[in-house]
Amino acid sequence: MTEALILNGKAIAASVTDEITARTARLAAEIGVKPGLAVVIVGEDPASQVYVRNKGRTASACGFNSITHTLSVDVSEEKLLALVAEMNEDQAIHGILVQLPLPKHISENKVLNLIKPEKDVDGFHPINVGLLGSGNTDRALVPCTPAGCVLLTKRALGADLSGKTAVIVGRSNIVGKPVAQLLLQENCTVTIAHSRTKDLPDLVRGADIVVAAVGRPQMIRGDWIKAGATVIDVGMNRIPAPEKGEGKTRLVGDVAYDEALGHAGAITPVPGGVGPMTIAMLMSNTVTAARRLLG
Ligand code: GUN
Repeated sequence: MTEALILNGKAIAASVTDEITARTARLAAEIGVKPGLAVVIVGEDPASQVYVRNKGRTASACGFNSITHTLSVDVSEEKLLALVAEMNEDQAIHGILVQLPLPKHISENKVLNLIKPEKDVDGFHPINVGLLGSGNTDRALVPCTPAGCVLLTKRALGADLSGKTAVIVGRSNIVGKPVAQLLLQENCTVTIAHSRTKDLPDLVRGADIVVAAVGRPQMIRGDWIKAGATVIDVGMNRIPAPEKGEGKTRLVGDVAYDEALGHAGAITPVPGGVGPMTIAMLMSNTVTAARRLLG
């Protein structure tokens, strides 16, 4: 059996950010404006700090104005809402992202719903969710990880995904539901599976495209994967790695990667698959938002 094509998210993301750097230069030449991306982080969660640092670095590399607001874990909801309201009115900011999760005393919905939909580069505002669900993708800002998943799938299968069967494991607002909407728009036959789904292995065995976004390390086994299927692994799980030394960990996806390699036609590694694509799509949304806001 031939081994799967490894979808190198790092390299594909680099080609996307190269295009964005060119779009940014055109915007600067035509209108004299740099896209402005503001990222807010509350508290000191190490994983969130890594994501936010990478977002800031990539934004600067693309030629954006990159602003990071670091707030203490006990900041009041009122203060965070006031910061969002201020950024909504700031002409130099075209994209706003509040890193999740937020501390328990702050309502995520309240914060996300206050972000101006035109600046909501995460695509989490109900207006953007509705635009995506009703097929208005030309006006929506589309969530970054799902957009990255579809781009990687097209690298494996070509631009036309019509008639493919897709099984998405996980029903989160951030990944599962929006990736289902995007694949439906690509004329896939889409099933969303979750913790109450019956006979998940057999369901996955029927899929041409598997998107794993459950947050359970290596839950999807190799023999669940149909021969030649495209496997997109959104999972980012830390598991103990005693072989690296006492107390050490390593990052794994939701798919048992080594097993799946012998079945899949194409597969994303973890790390280096979907992760870098998320950041590239955030940059794409920011330059899109800037273009639209500047008219
Ligand atoms: N936390 C984990 N993923 C994301 C994401 O895509 N956007 C934001 N804002 N927070 C996250």
